[in-house]
Amino acid sequence: MYNSKITGLGYFVPDNIVTNNDLKAFMETSDEWIQERTGIEERRWIDPATGDNTSSMGAKAAKIAIERAGLTKDDIDFIIFATLSPDMYFPGGGVRVQDMLDMPTIGALDIRNQCSGFVYALSVADQFIKTGMYKNILVIGSENHSGGLERSTRGRNVTVIFGDGAGAAIVSRSEEKGKGILSSHLHSEGKYARELMLDGPSTGRWVPEILKENDPEDVSYFPYMNGQFVFKHAVVRFAEAIEEGLEANNLKKEDIDMLIPHQANLRIAQFIQKKFQLSDDKVHNNIMKYGNTTAASVIIALTEAWEQGKIKDNDLVILAAFGSGFTWGSVVIRW
Ligand code: UT7
Repeated sequence: MYNSKITGLGYFVPDNIVTNNDLKAFMETSDEWIQERTGIEERRWIDPATGDNTSSMGAKAAKIAIERAGLTKDDIDFIIFATLSPDMYFPGGGVRVQDMLDMPTIGALDIRNQCSGFVYALSVADQFIKTGMYKNILVIGSENHSGGLERSTRGRNVTVIFGDGAGAAIVSRSEEKGKGILSSHLHSEGKYARELMLDGPSTGRWVPEILKENDPEDVSYFPYMNGQFVFKHAVVRFAEAIEEGLEANNLKKEDIDMLIPHQANLRIAQFIQKKFQLSDDKVHNNIMKYGNTTAASVIIALTEAWEQGKIKDNDLVILAAFGSGFTWGSVVIRW
């Protein structure tokens, strides 16, 4: 068995900043409500004039990560792309990045695990590296939420939360024992699939049906979230995933140097920080600036923390996520 290690990180967010007050142009809301409930001050939404989309943002983040890993696109053996907002219904974003970066005809796999997408993707990459199948894997999390949110008061409980952006990591084979990705822990509970979902268009609710009904009250093609229900499950599952990661490696909460929680809600992250008694310098949050970027959130936050010098050699870093599915998980890394 080989070891796997993150050797490059990068992120890209659109330039277009949308503040809480900007949202008041198309819905009844307030800066106070959004900040108090979620911690979000602003988010990035793609300006359609730029032509950016989920895969182009992923490709931009990937370029940075590849360069920082000291590699070229031709050194990458495999692409894993996590998103819930692909440019098209099919194919996924991985093949689009393969084309955009003019890469060799390597394999490309899309991961459909929403907010835990990046944690799942990293775990898959880890397995491919550890078994020796690949040496360098490009792992991307990217979301274009703004293209599909309901911009009205009816959709405000979801719309104010989500932002656009992408992050990428290079996972490489490493000879260093006891360093790199130590373990990953993945879970799901599909009975709650409808508590956070987008129903149509899908094969369960197809376009002709939606058009035939032509019902102005139809919200099936906008994301739906039972916010309080999701919140209650999130705080429990986040904690479980972190504890599981610590236990699997015979570590204690005092050993954590940096926790990167999925940026779903600042209140959730603060609850977890308190539960594990972590000081402010041991948790990185950026939901204030970017909102919830789903599959991109963990990798953007990890990259930002690393860029700011908050992650040093030998640090114990834990990534944890929870979201639609429900799915949740953690990855434990010795940096
Ligand atoms: O990333 C995937 C995982 N997602 C999560 O973990 C999210 C978990 N859930 C949450 O973060 C919170 O539930 C939300 C932030 C989404 C919502 O906060 P909440 O405290 O659960 O609010 P609520 O949905 O219960 O709504 C409370 C009130 C309602 O008004 P009434 O019925 O009390 O009169 C809503 O209509 O706030 C109203 N409201 C808003 N008001 C102003 C809902 N959205 C807004 C808004 N602006 N944007």
